[in-house]
Amino acid sequence: MVSYKKLGLVNTKKMFAKAVKGGYAIPAFNFNTMEQMQAIIQAAVETKSPVIMQVSKGARKYANPTILRYMAEGAVQYAKELGCKKPQIVLHLDHGDSYETCKSCIDSGFSSVMIDGSSLPFKENIKLTKKVVNYAHKHDVTVEAELGVLAGVEDEVSAAESHYTKPEEVVEFATKTGCDSLAISIGTSHGAYKFTAAQCTRDPKTGKLVPPPLAFDVLKAIEKKLPGFPIVLHGSSSVPQDCVDTINKFGGKLPDAVGIPEEQLRKAAKSAVCKINIDSDSRLAMTAAIRKHFAEHPDHFDPRQYLTPAREAMKEMYIHKIVKVLGSNNKL
Ligand code: G3H
Ligand code: 13P
Ligand code: ZN
Repeated sequence: MVSYKKLGLVNTKKMFAKAVKGGYAIPAFNFNTMEQMQAIIQAAVETKSPVIMQVSKGARKYANPTILRYMAEGAVQYAKELGCKKPQIVLHLDHGDSYETCKSCIDSGFSSVMIDGSSLPFKENIKLTKKVVNYAHKHDVTVEAELGVLAGVEDEVSAAESHYTKPEEVVEFATKTGCDSLAISIGTSHGAYKFTAAQCTRDPKTGKLVPPPLAFDVLKAIEKKLPGFPIVLHGSSSVPQDCVDTINKFGGKLPDAVGIPEEQLRKAAKSAVCKINIDSDSRLAMTAAIRKHFAEHPDHFDPRQYLTPAREAMKEMYIHKIVKVLGSNNKL
């Protein structure tokens, strides 16, 4: 058993309370590689922002759970080395799909876990979430749960269409489970294709898709039922069109990739939404930089040559999100 406290990590409790009160959101960035980790920490330190580094089941499979855990421990030391005396870094399990996975993460030093029972019937979701909460709270680890289903693929949880969270269920769910935060469905979804062309209109000037607005009425109704309770938004990449255009220009093929407009995330961050999950934008920033680099330097084959601009592009993107979208800068 390794306690996250020994690794210098923190849980989300105080962080979320402060964010809800202050009208901003904490960035939750997924990481699979060293370069992503470095870029996340550089961005958080430069902007003096708390940060959640999250690990999916896929990331655990790709990078190995032990390595990721040591990378998170290294991240804390790295932040200190970069001049941040007291970094606030959370190591979070993203979309935990079972009690066993959550327990294994808690036992190996995670400070926060998500148990994603959103595909289960309501009562079973409560039962599973409560079981995870009981174990996590014994170790002062915070738990994110989910109600409502996002469109697209949620790791093992797949749903063809989005089912918004039902505001009338949230009080019973939060009370019975004792979860610390709640991921809700208000129209976001995972990946770089958040909406079909049929769900969007098209900008006649640029030819780009214009997505429909998020269901802020549902968010409002949830906030009314659970005043001050930390709300989480998954699937919140904006799918920056400059990245998409660069990828397409240099041999990629991402037609009609579309995300959540940043002004909508800005609006959400000012509400009880205190954690915003971003993964795809990091993938896009990295891919765009690498494709451009290879096109301009066909003779390069040292990974450091193309991973350096990729890391820089991700860092810039993270800083932009923190400062211009979530507002978590200078909140340490
Ligand atoms: O919610 C999904 C995250 O973007 C993680 O994706 O399972 O491909 O690592 P992944
Ligand atoms: P995006 O695919 O929009 O980046 O969402 C990431 C996410 O929700 C991770 O849990
Ligand atoms: Zn997610």
